[in-house]
Amino acid sequence: MYSIDLLDGTSIPWLGWGNGSGDASKTAIESGTRALHAGIHHIDTAQLYKNEAETGEAIKKVGLKREDVYVTSKISTDDDGNPVPLDSVRSSVEGSLQRLGFVPDLYLIHNPFVAASGELKGLWSALEQLKSEGKLKSIGVSNFRPQDLEAILDGAKYKPVVNQLEYHPYVLSHLEPVLSLQAKHGIVTEAFGPLTPVIRHPTGGPLKPVLDRIAQRLSKSTGKKIDVAAVLLLWTRAQNVVAVTTSGNPDRIKWLGEVAHLPDLLEQSEIDEITKIGKGVHFRHYTEHMEKDFPLPNLPDGVDKS
Ligand SMILES: NC(=O)c1ccc[n+]([C@@H]2O[C@H](COP(=O)([O-])OP(=O)(O)OC[C@H]3O[C@@H](n4cnc5c(N)ncnc54)[C@H](OP(=O)(O)O)[C@@H]3O)[C@@H](O)[C@H]2O)c1
Repeated sequence: MYSIDLLDGTSIPWLGWGNGSGDASKTAIESGTRALHAGIHHIDTAQLYKNEAETGEAIKKVGLKREDVYVTSKISTDDDGNPVPLDSVRSSVEGSLQRLGFVPDLYLIHNPFVAASGELKGLWSALEQLKSEGKLKSIGVSNFRPQDLEAILDGAKYKPVVNQLEYHPYVLSHLEPVLSLQAKHGIVTEAFGPLTPVIRHPTGGPLKPVLDRIAQRLSKSTGKKIDVAAVLLLWTRAQNVVAVTTSGNPDRIKWLGEVAHLPDLLEQSEIDEITKIGKGVHFRHYTEHMEKDFPLPNLPDGVDKS
């Protein structure tokens, strides 16, 4: 599978299967095993998903060597959203490693509220320390706004290699400040919710006819049934962004395995068209703090109200 280079000299497979949402989260061993068999050797988990142990179990069950699967986990708040006290970070991370049964390739701060107010830099320093000791490999962040990134970048020993956030064409304009800061520092974007325009937007918005047309063209030219989800994932890869998607449906998992290994099928004009249309709409699924102290663009949501 094509991989994206990270600033610490490692690389990450461009498409990951997550066990944090939908049916996949309830069937982490069964669906995780299917995803690995389908050729998606990249699993995204987190403390919050309560299936780090199942992640390790799925890899064992398939019999793949540890180094043949890229695994991400995250330090999370507790179920009530309480932050992790700084003096508990080490034991919290060790808990992840124990449940997984190994050191994950990438370990993220799940969101800026894993740290108590004013302690984000301290939390990042604790992960840096664990990395320096060889107890963690790559380290990064998730759901960070520009101000969250700036708080940890100031005097950092290691920059976060990724910021995992909701990313798809309909949040491009909103994300512009965070994406430009990441570009400046070489921080790779990891997309969750990449299929939002086709599975969560109530009508699909102005991208729908364009994605349909491209999917039809590709189905004709490849002789495979290329769907709009595949088009969006290929667009994500064309942005040099890692796509973390998921499915608990056996047929769709198999298809995602095929998509993971598709060549670059999109024409540059199609990539640009999706980007341009996406930038004219604002539609976000995962809101939470991403709409707090992070100005929204003055754009329509793309829902035709006529
Ligand atoms: N860091 C964070 O805060 C955060 C937040 C959210 C998610 N994540 C990670 O990202 C992963 C994916 O998140 P997401 O669910 O938002 O991703 P998504 O890719 O936008 O949506 C995945 C959903 O799309 C459906 N799907 C998959 N392939 C499809 C296809 N070909 N056609 C139509 N529908 C299809 C699946 O439903 P079926 O199961 O029915 O196939 C699945 O529930 C999570 O599991 C988690 O690991 C991280």
